[in-house]
Amino acid sequence: MTDAPQKTFTLTNDQTGESTKLPILDGNDGPSVIDVRRLYGQLGHFTYDPGFRATGSCDSALTYIDGEQGILLHRGYAIEDLAARSDYMEVCYLLLHGELPTGDQKTLFESTITHHTMVHDQINNFFRGFRRDAHPMAIMCGVVGALSAFYHDHTDVNSAEDRLISAHRLIAKMPTIAAMAYKYSCGQPFMYPRNDLGYAANFLHMTFGVPAESSEPDPILARAMDKIFILHADHEQNASTSTVRIAGSSGANPYAVIAAGIASLWGPAHGGANEAVLSMLDEIGDKSRINEFVKKAKDPDDSFRLMGFGHRVYKNFDPRAKIMKETADEVLDLMGMSDPRLELARELERIALEDDYFVQRKLYPNVDFYSGIILKAMGFPTEMFTVLFAMARTVGWISQWKEMMENPDGIFRPRQLYTGHKHRPFVDLPKR
Ligand code: SDX
Repeated sequence: MTDAPQKTFTLTNDQTGESTKLPILDGNDGPSVIDVRRLYGQLGHFTYDPGFRATGSCDSALTYIDGEQGILLHRGYAIEDLAARSDYMEVCYLLLHGELPTGDQKTLFESTITHHTMVHDQINNFFRGFRRDAHPMAIMCGVVGALSAFYHDHTDVNSAEDRLISAHRLIAKMPTIAAMAYKYSCGQPFMYPRNDLGYAANFLHMTFGVPAESSEPDPILARAMDKIFILHADHEQNASTSTVRIAGSSGANPYAVIAAGIASLWGPAHGGANEAVLSMLDEIGDKSRINEFVKKAKDPDDSFRLMGFGHRVYKNFDPRAKIMKETADEVLDLMGMSDPRLELARELERIALEDDYFVQRKLYPNVDFYSGIILKAMGFPTEMFTVLFAMARTVGWISQWKEMMENPDGIFRPRQLYTGHKHRPFVDLPKR
């Protein structure tokens, strides 16, 4: 412990002169925080921060974001290095355990995940209850939550061993369930996982393989898929991760907690944006209409927003968007394809980044702006895009949940500024 005096922040009520000293806590990087935990007890006031724009809800060692500089680190490693030099299984191990795995650790981890990829055969019956045209995110919410009805073993959330088994099961089974959601939507038979394939290749096999052919997933597409998973793995205390932490803080079943995260991610302001970007680009249709849509996005009376643009934290380029843009070129070249949407997206980005409205508000492309173009080129239907985001983010959600459960802070229970009626006498029906 250092002998340095505790740094404090003095808060004074200008009307009454009441004041209190609040501790300032320093992290290892990024802004310090003012510890207001004793504020209500000392001064009888709550803090007020709807949307948590200026609130640190927890301490965490998993992911660091510098929004002004456009920096993203996982356990101290830059996302650029992880995307270029690591793979998704290593990033999963890193997020769960805090260090990149050694060769032996990686081999054991991959084998553990591989041998959890199958789902209980009765899970198939769940799909029979869905309409074929159900949105796959609706299916993911339902089926992932239903895993809590299948796993009664190892669900003691206070046991480190059980928490790790739940984490392994979720990371392993998400691709299987996601592929099943796709297969069900197009009337093709489910494909079983193959233990001889890597994580991303296995997902492509279960999604695009058919029993009638013994095709092998394209290794370069599998590498691109793996990189996309890395870019979506974790992202600090975003809406869906905060949902997972809040849901998990009550001691809820881990499968149900991840289903809550999936539900939150689905929204177009969050993970649903990748699907919305493609719909927006298709609606714009041609470069000649870009200015019309940019004008709509700037109109305060129009609810339309440029999907894939802007971010609560990044006020510079989202580093993931840069990597995604490069990957889009690679995948389209590999596929020998050209997608007019890519040129449209590039022109839209150029026009927006030269427009004062976006420049003043520091609105840049985010992770969702280019991802849909790659996924479309790889053969995924638009409504599967957020499912892929949920799959990749599962390791982030479950690692954040694990970190919280290792250092529990009690149930998340915010307070409020009450704006309703003061107490008033009840009025019987005849007198209303
Ligand atoms: C993800 O949190 C995370 O880390 C999320 C994520 C992750 O990995 O988990 O990074 C993934 O969700 C990325 C974001 C995907 N969503 C979209 O692309 C949807 C479009 N973006 C916007 O809805 C918006 O930018 C948000 C929701 C992402 C951020 O909203 P904020 O921080 O609440 O910003 P804001 O609404 O306060 O906007 C500030 C100003 C406003 O204008 P003024 O009121 O100041 O005049 O910028 C404007 C907004 O109207 N604005 C936009 C805009 N985004 C913000 N105007 C037009 N188009 C946009 N996209």
